[in-house]
Amino acid sequence: MSILAGFKQTIEQPIDFLPLEGTDYVEFYVGNAKQAAHFYKTAFGFQSLAYAGPETGVRDKVSYAIRQNKLTFVFTTALRKDNAIAEYVHKHGDGVKALALMVDDAADAWEQTTMRGAKSFIEPVTLTDDLGKMVMSGIHTYGETVHLFIERKHYAGAFMPGYRPWKSSYNPSETGLLYVDHCVGNVGWNQMNKWVKFYEDVMGFRNILSFDDNDISTEYSALMSKVMSSGNGFVKFPINEPAEGKKKSQVEEFLEFYDGEGCQHVALATKNIVETVTQLQSRGVEFLKVPSTYYDDLEERTGKIDEDVEPLKELGILVDRDDEGYLLQIFTKPVEDRPTLFFEIIQRKGAKSFGKGNFKALFEAIEREQAARGNL
Ligand code: FE2
Repeated sequence: MSILAGFKQTIEQPIDFLPLEGTDYVEFYVGNAKQAAHFYKTAFGFQSLAYAGPETGVRDKVSYAIRQNKLTFVFTTALRKDNAIAEYVHKHGDGVKALALMVDDAADAWEQTTMRGAKSFIEPVTLTDDLGKMVMSGIHTYGETVHLFIERKHYAGAFMPGYRPWKSSYNPSETGLLYVDHCVGNVGWNQMNKWVKFYEDVMGFRNILSFDDNDISTEYSALMSKVMSSGNGFVKFPINEPAEGKKKSQVEEFLEFYDGEGCQHVALATKNIVETVTQLQSRGVEFLKVPSTYYDDLEERTGKIDEDVEPLKELGILVDRDDEGYLLQIFTKPVEDRPTLFFEIIQRKGAKSFGKGNFKALFEAIEREQAARGNL
């Protein structure tokens, strides 16, 4: 390609300097990885995948990887005090440490982002075992959260070098969860635009949607949100910050109990939300409930939908429509005792948005929970 042709391409379509192929895995730092892995297998229908710990030559920590379709979760715990994992859990409780992203070239991803101002977390490192090699690198984002870049095209093992396959006789059936749809970060007062700029400048993301406190406010509290999307749209990170209201917003409650900025929720996609949520509820996953009046005029608000309204009402599933279609969504209560991380289950039927029409009903439901905790 001539220099001129390259120049023309830059003008018409900026080159995606950080092509992301999707989410590789989500790593949680937790107080007890063995029990966390068991909970997510039992309640969410994940399968055992891989294990790393003293038996595989890792001396100071233990990790369990579990998988369901294209979703991989890793739970890591410290074996001793006085290390970064133990300090993380002491400060934040159980939470998301790493949002690992699939790339074709992990060394280049690190180069491209650090030269644009990212703070390095792990310099590119090649990990090898009998089944091939993987390259990994990482950068810091908001709070103590990091993005890892994972290049696994030359690796044929179960998960990654350092892990051994984890075979278990306990294999609860799956619940239809497919992949990560988006991951939301909560940041501090007046920090949203700083992190929007970080994703734009350092990772080449675009701001595809913005919500201000007029969109997301109830009688008591408010928040603002901007959705950042990778160049190809495979990875989406909405960023929330609190806004002034009469009482404490859910973002402020998170910042207080997590003790800093961090990942608020991970949205998990399904092709059949009624079946998935029926399974999850029967296994003990707790969801936020909106008042049943939400369903009285549902189809007047959303137009005709394929699903029967009655099961949606019974399960508490919300519906919202945009120009391109509609989506169904529901939110779990926090999955640990601190009111911090939770999950969203989402089924998209054309819609590419995030459920703006549900914000008010949803945030009122969250506030009822906050009030019950004495935190509103
Ligand atoms: Fe979400």
